[in-house]
Amino acid sequence: MMKIALIGFMGSGKTTIGRLLSASLGSAFLDLDDEIMRISGTSSGEIFDSLGEVGFRRMEEEALRLSSSSPGDLVLACGGGIIAGEGNRRILREDYVSIWIDVPFGEIERRLFEYPEGRPLWNPSAEPRQVQDNQALYLARLPLYEESAQLHYRWQSPEAPAESAAIISQMLKNLFPA
Ligand code: S3P
Repeated sequence: MMKIALIGFMGSGKTTIGRLLSASLGSAFLDLDDEIMRISGTSSGEIFDSLGEVGFRRMEEEALRLSSSSPGDLVLACGGGIIAGEGNRRILREDYVSIWIDVPFGEIERRLFEYPEGRPLWNPSAEPRQVQDNQALYLARLPLYEESAQLHYRWQSPEAPAESAAIISQMLKNLFPA
């Protein structure tokens, strides 16, 4: 049984690539933010507003634990901040084959400029001060992704999601030859 977790910063393509990867592996697919919404009956933005980031992280950890004990193969697309808690980093190392989708900051900025919605921790303003805040969060998280992941996929322009999924699938085959 193989449980795969895709980790990486907001906008790195975890959900899109995860769906494609799960289809090619014949595994189930889950998006952890959708799971949190399903369990709580509300959106991540509303959870941030009512319970703050701490409340959201608590629910996120619970959803991660629940998913790791679900039966069968799974590709799980995690939220970008999944690596914030030491407990989650341990679960990612011990219960999942975790794959870091590593996308350069400039590309993340370009993508989130087009689709900023539903991301309370991303500041969509182009003010230099706020761009710096986004970049500081990105830089602070890099070592945590590195520490949590077994595989490191470095996205390169112009790889489309289907190509990324195929490359990751090959990395998995190399790691676990049949
Ligand atoms: C978060 C990323 C979001 C979502 C929440 C917090 C983060 O998921 O979990 O807004 O802390 O980076 P995506 O990475 O899918 O945008």
